[in-house]
Amino acid sequence: MTIKDKILGKLISNKGTPVSGEKLASELSVSRAAVWKHIKTLRGEGYMIDSTTNRGYSLTGAPDLLAPAQIKAGLNTCIIGKEIHYFKEIESTNTKAREIAHSAEEGTVVIAETQSGGKGRIGRKWLSPEGGIWLSIILKPKIQPLHAARLTLLAGLAAAKTIQGMSIEAKIKWPNDVLVKGKKVCGILTEMEAELDRIDYCVVGIGINANVDTELFPEEIRDLSTSLEHELGHAVNRNWFVRRLLEEFEKEYLTFQKDGFSSILEEWRNMSGTIGEYVKITTQAKTIYGEAVGVDDDGTLVIETNDGKLEKIVAGTCEHLRRT
Ligand code: BTN
Repeated sequence: MTIKDKILGKLISNKGTPVSGEKLASELSVSRAAVWKHIKTLRGEGYMIDSTTNRGYSLTGAPDLLAPAQIKAGLNTCIIGKEIHYFKEIESTNTKAREIAHSAEEGTVVIAETQSGGKGRIGRKWLSPEGGIWLSIILKPKIQPLHAARLTLLAGLAAAKTIQGMSIEAKIKWPNDVLVKGKKVCGILTEMEAELDRIDYCVVGIGINANVDTELFPEEIRDLSTSLEHELGHAVNRNWFVRRLLEEFEKEYLTFQKDGFSSILEEWRNMSGTIGEYVKITTQAKTIYGEAVGVDDDGTLVIETNDGKLEKIVAGTCEHLRRT
């Protein structure tokens, strides 16, 4: 965390009560002039900071930014989000997370206000305008690489539960889109670096259309997308949402490590919008139509095809179709 973020953190935790420049300087082992310089920078970023002679600085207003100090104020986690790297604009938080993953602690988060080259699944682009939540979590799980898909399901569950917590009915479309009223509000892209029997790191990228105007999306995805703002009828507090998401994610991740995957899967199945649907699955090799009848222990989708055969799908694109 930078000195500027630490100063902001102290102003936030003082909840509007003035804190003296001298106290800030001595607690952070910097000069009072350095404190003053950071206060000026924070003001330039839109933070409203009052200063009164003899009493010090107090925060009276903050811009709607996903700054680490704002997220961390009140974040109740042990590992996820202890370290947060923040960018106003970046190519892709997943790419950045992969760059720093080797030297980063497990649970480090990379977050950005906008992405210029956001990555979606199967090589697609992911639109990432201002107002959304674009973040990546670095994990170093002690699991076999072939079980890595479980992390994606876990992330989808954490996102769906966080959205559900806002009284919006959220469903998970296999493998990991979160839908509201059949429209996509969140996508997840998990990337990993591994040897045959050992994961070096996984990067779980989560994109949430929070306060995004999906009407401005290109025609081909406009009708398939929605945002939390649209569903609620008002903007969401993104810092609050990120805190809840990271807390939910950590809860699921610790359960997964302690008790295994079965309880996560149970909850995933309960929130699945895919099981019971007639679907079209497109894999690299083929296209399959049938009823989604279940998800097995590794997150593989089980389809009953029109001729009654069971097919297991490890990876692919899933479309929910209406039965004719
Ligand atoms: C998909 O549904 O296709 C997956 C979309 C994943 C988007 C997120 S946004 C944060 C992270 N950084 C990226 O470049 N992609 C993921």
